[in-house]
Amino acid sequence: MKKLVVMSFSSVPKVILDTDPGGDDIFAFLWLQSLAKQGLVEIIAVTTTAGNVSAQKTFSSACQILELGGFAQIEVGRGMTLDGELAENAAHIHGSDGMGNLSNTLPRPAREYETARNADEVLIDQLNALPGEITLIAIGPLTNLAAAEKKSPGILQKAREIVIMGGAFFCPGNVTPQAEFNIWFDPEAAKVVLNSRTDLVILPLDVTRHLILTREMAGAIAQINPHSNLAKLIVNLSEFMIKTALSHRETSGISGFLVHDAATLSYLFYPELLMLRRSKVWVETRGEWTRGQTTIDQRNGAKQRANAWVALQVDQTKFFTSFIEDLKRLMDVLT
Ligand code: BDR
Ligand code: CA
Repeated sequence: MKKLVVMSFSSVPKVILDTDPGGDDIFAFLWLQSLAKQGLVEIIAVTTTAGNVSAQKTFSSACQILELGGFAQIEVGRGMTLDGELAENAAHIHGSDGMGNLSNTLPRPAREYETARNADEVLIDQLNALPGEITLIAIGPLTNLAAAEKKSPGILQKAREIVIMGGAFFCPGNVTPQAEFNIWFDPEAAKVVLNSRTDLVILPLDVTRHLILTREMAGAIAQINPHSNLAKLIVNLSEFMIKTALSHRETSGISGFLVHDAATLSYLFYPELLMLRRSKVWVETRGEWTRGQTTIDQRNGAKQRANAWVALQVDQTKFFTSFIEDLKRLMDVLT
């Protein structure tokens, strides 16, 4: 008699968020927390990386955002400390704390960078504990994912899926003419991840440059409970991000800012909003002018190994309909 094999996947998707907060990381993070409160996803852990600001600051912000949302019990892994000029690279966009200089308006985090586990260890342990079940959502440089893969070859294959915000294919970069920030920050890490599996999902600037969160949208979310800490954070962080986005000409003059990292959540929870292309993706690790550039092989010859699904179109109206309603729900349940 044949045995019925019952897969042990629980019905609620499990995720680890790998992040470098960052104003847009925080909005993605709040969206994820709203979906978790609605019972649509389980957050297994958060891992932080140096990127927009230093590893200490991204760790601290992630802890503050989890505590704000009532998820203080979730483990936060710490990223590697970097020396030199890379350490504070996008503070001019996101503020010196990565949070629009608003971190001191929230309670200090209850845990410390020094005593946290390393992000790569958290990734390795969790993926080994729940093979095939965890989706990795990577919204910062890919340093932690690559470190885990180098330490434990094949570990990224144990993720259910890896969803990445990064790259620029048929549009300019945002840190050099060719390169997008997350890939440019650590292209060697991106290369390791791109070689790790054949079903990566990539949300590049090609779609995220259309995701402009306006002052009015932020206000519509905040009005659910305007005096709450969350509402103040949303309004004040948006104001900060709008200023820097306008001064860096990221939004065609519209008073808003790009919520790049939130695109990953639209892929996971509202996939009908996106068009993706099956692709063979490369990253340039050495070019003098092109370091961090991502390319889709469009030549006519047969490709032996496509490695990714790359999003190239998004329905931004529907994106913001879902984003705003979910953030309003978070605001509602936190009151
Ligand atoms: C990416 O770079 C960072 O500054 C943002 O947080 C986002 O992850 C966009 O290029
Ligand atoms: Ca980010």
